[in-house]
Amino acid sequence: MILLFIGDLIGRPGRELLRKGLSALVEHHHVDFVIANAENSAAGFGITKDIGDTILGYGVDVMTSGNHIWDKKEALDYIAGERRLLRPANYPAGVPGKGSLVATTRDGRQVGVVNVMGRVFMTALDDPFAVVLKEIEAVRAKAKIVVVDFHAEATSEKVAMGWHLDGKATLVVGTHTHVQTADERILPNGTAYLTDAGMTGPHDSIIGMEREPALARFRNGMPSKFEPATGNPRLNGIVVSADDATGRATSVTRISYSERDLTAIGATA
Ligand SMILES: [Fe+2]
Ligand SMILES: [Fe+2]
Repeated sequence: MILLFIGDLIGRPGRELLRKGLSALVEHHHVDFVIANAENSAAGFGITKDIGDTILGYGVDVMTSGNHIWDKKEALDYIAGERRLLRPANYPAGVPGKGSLVATTRDGRQVGVVNVMGRVFMTALDDPFAVVLKEIEAVRAKAKIVVVDFHAEATSEKVAMGWHLDGKATLVVGTHTHVQTADERILPNGTAYLTDAGMTGPHDSIIGMEREPALARFRNGMPSKFEPATGNPRLNGIVVSADDATGRATSVTRISYSERDLTAIGATA
C-alpha cells in the first residue's frame, strides 16, 4: 500500500495546486490512498460543502482537519453528513463529526485514518494520547494500515506522539504549523513519522497568509484581516509505502513540489 498525505491546503492557491497536480502525483508515486488536511481550504479558514466536495472530486480519499475546522458555520452540517471529513477525535462528546474512519481504496483494501489535536499552546481538549489509542484500537479491528494526523503546535508533543504510537500506526504525521520539518523516519517498530507535513499553498507568505497584515499584527499588536497569499505555491506532504500484511511502513519520502515540478511530473507520467 502506498499512502500520500498532503499538508494543510490553504485556500484557492492550495486547491488549484491540488487540481493541477494530484493525478500526476498519484501516478508518479503509484499512490493507492490520498489523505489531505483541509482545515484551511476555504480562504484559509475552515471548509464549506462545495469546497470539501471539490477536494474529494480531485481524488482525495479522506480529509483531516484541526482547530480551524469550525471557522465556516456550514462546516457543522457538512461534517455531520460527510464521513470522509474528520475533525480531531479528542473534542468533547457531542461535538459534530467524527475523529476516525475506516475507508476503502479503489482496489478494496482498508485504511484506518485517525485525527487528534495537541494541547500544548492550543485549546485544551481531552487527552489526545489516551483518545488516540482507543481510536486506533477501533479502526485496527478492520484495517492493518492506520494513519494518524496529529494536529499540534509543539514539536515536543508531536515527537512524543510518534514514540507513543510506534508499532501501533503505519504513519504518524503532524499538521498545523504549515512549515514542513525534515525529520521523516521510520521508528524501530515500523511507524513512519514526520513532525509536520507542511502546507499546500503559497509559500511566499506568513504560514499561508499575506505577509503585510500578518507582519503588522506582530509589529503593532492590533487585529488585522488575513487573506491567503498567492506567491510561490508548493504542495507539501509525505509518501509512505507499507506492508499490507503487517501495517508496518517500509519507506518514507517527504515531498515539496512547486507548480513547475508538478507539471514536469505530469509530462513524464
Ligand atoms: Fe492549518
Ligand atoms: Fe491548525
